Amino acid sequence: MTLDLLVRNATLPDGRRLDIAVRAGMIVDLAPGLEAQAREIIDARGHLVAPPFVDCHFHLDATLSLGLPRLNMSGTLLEGIALWGELKPLLTHEAVAERALRYCDLAVSRGLLAVRTHVDVCDDRLLAVEALLEVKRQVKPYLDLQLVAFPQDGYFRSANAAQNLRRALDLGVDVVGGIPHFERTMEEGAASVKALCEIAAKRGLPIDLHCDESDDPLSRHIETLAAEAHRLGLGARATASHATSMHSMDNYYVSKLIPLIAESRINVIANPLINITLQGRHDTYPRRRGLTRIPELRAAGVNVALGQDCVMDPWYGLGGADMLDVAHMAVHAAPMTSREAIAWSFAGVTEMAARTMGLEGYGLHVGAHADFVLLQAADPIEAVRLRAERLAVVRRGKVIARTPERVTALALEGRPAVLDPSAYAPR
Ligand code: FE2
Repeated sequence: MTLDLLVRNATLPDGRRLDIAVRAGMIVDLAPGLEAQAREIIDARGHLVAPPFVDCHFHLDATLSLGLPRLNMSGTLLEGIALWGELKPLLTHEAVAERALRYCDLAVSRGLLAVRTHVDVCDDRLLAVEALLEVKRQVKPYLDLQLVAFPQDGYFRSANAAQNLRRALDLGVDVVGGIPHFERTMEEGAASVKALCEIAAKRGLPIDLHCDESDDPLSRHIETLAAEAHRLGLGARATASHATSMHSMDNYYVSKLIPLIAESRINVIANPLINITLQGRHDTYPRRRGLTRIPELRAAGVNVALGQDCVMDPWYGLGGADMLDVAHMAVHAAPMTSREAIAWSFAGVTEMAARTMGLEGYGLHVGAHADFVLLQAADPIEAVRLRAERLAVVRRGKVIARTPERVTALALEGRPAVLDPSAYAPR
């Protein structure tokens, strides 16, 4: 039977060189030298073919709003939250949806085909929730969007947040969110974690909390999250996002905490682009890096993934939907420069992030969705090093985006990235 798509000479992230056969939106065979007829053939010429990028931590309701209504002058998380509070009453359904759709187009062009976005539920109108639910339906053919009901101003601290969070879940939002370090007291923070975990358990939903996005070494809500996830059997359905206070914690305490996190099987998401800029703002010198303890968590067997968090919004004025930027920053900020760790950083924005989101049919294996990205790189390390071009982005067996090869002399000897000498013509 004729295939819909055949990708020849693909190098997979694990180094295998083979062909990928696609029919009816699924991968139906993976083997070297496949003999088959196909309606479309892509010759990967030994370049890397990877499962699509996944951003498991993002804020789509705020993206591309940089400068509205003003800029964050201190660069702190707290000014960002205050600034977002100023913008919220000015939001319209149409503007939120338009910015989100524009971002999704950019994401797809970068091979980013699944996004977990937090959406603020502290606006009684639930305007952003409704706008993003509509966007989710619109982008479904090419991008998996997962929504988190996020009480940005505090589950207890903000007047109607508890009620609004339930309303958002009733409307079809996928995941329970929270922000314990922003509640009025440590006690209320811990109580919010317990209340939110119970909602997740009762509704059978995942939970993903902004957990200890702080330089305060005594911000220990991840301990409560791990304990509650263990008590309620949430396991891998529970996720701690940011967890930056772990950077500043006492080592003795962390030696108890990491085994607790591992035991609970919760996921941890680090957001290196944003936290390397937001954290340590109250330090003089030496100045702390704002990243959780990725190598130690990985060594304990915790599923760690990497998120982008923000693009052009009140918290971060840069970013471009490029998950390889995220991996690249993680390598530098952690730091983790072994070959194994750099290769892992690629998995942190693909496989580990997909696992965190609980994506089904993800990966390069027979029976998986035919979703993948052809990168102008020989392997995951080169992809991170060069922030490689996405030569082709495939969703359910169809090419939905292409980018021309970049002229580069940076490829390793023997693997020229530019195969056509005419491409060297002056630009
Ligand atoms: Fe966030």
